[in-house]
Amino acid sequence: MIHKISGTVIQGNRIGRTLRFPTANIALDDDIPVRDGVYAAEVRTEGKIWPAMVNIGTRPTVTDNGKRFAEAHLFGFDGDLYGRTITIFLLQYIRGERRFTGLDALNEQLQLDKQNILNLFNK
Ligand SMILES: Cc1cc2nc3c(=O)[nH]c(=O)nc-3n(C[C@H](O)[C@H](O)[C@H](O)COP(=O)(O)O)c2cc1C
Repeated sequence: MIHKISGTVIQGNRIGRTLRFPTANIALDDDIPVRDGVYAAEVRTEGKIWPAMVNIGTRPTVTDNGKRFAEAHLFGFDGDLYGRTITIFLLQYIRGERRFTGLDALNEQLQLDKQNILNLFNK
């Protein structure tokens, strides 16, 4: 398994901002052999490392186009990474990607993911 993914941050559909979990998104080819799902991760950009939660997959709750992305929500980061290069280090698999009934249900899960992953970092 690849533990490290680099790419240029592309514009998402900005739902992340309404979810209050803004993400830095990079496109991923289908053949990158990483299991889809949510990971505890660290993200390096501009010489700094941020703890993060990362989703790898096609986001079945919000899109049907099958396009695969790595989406990183950086804890404590408040800014726009659009156009920047980021490197994602996947540290631990947390759960599979799922189709939620709507954005409220997805948002609740993201809050749980955040708590779980922050607990891991604080161990
Ligand atoms: C930690 C994390 C977990 C996620 N889990 C799922 C998931 O299980 N199912 C899903 O459809 N989308 C999931 N997403 C993707 C969200 O649908 C996506 O980030 C949101 O739609 C915002 O997209 P945007 O940044 O393009 O606006 C996850 C995103 C993150 C950051």
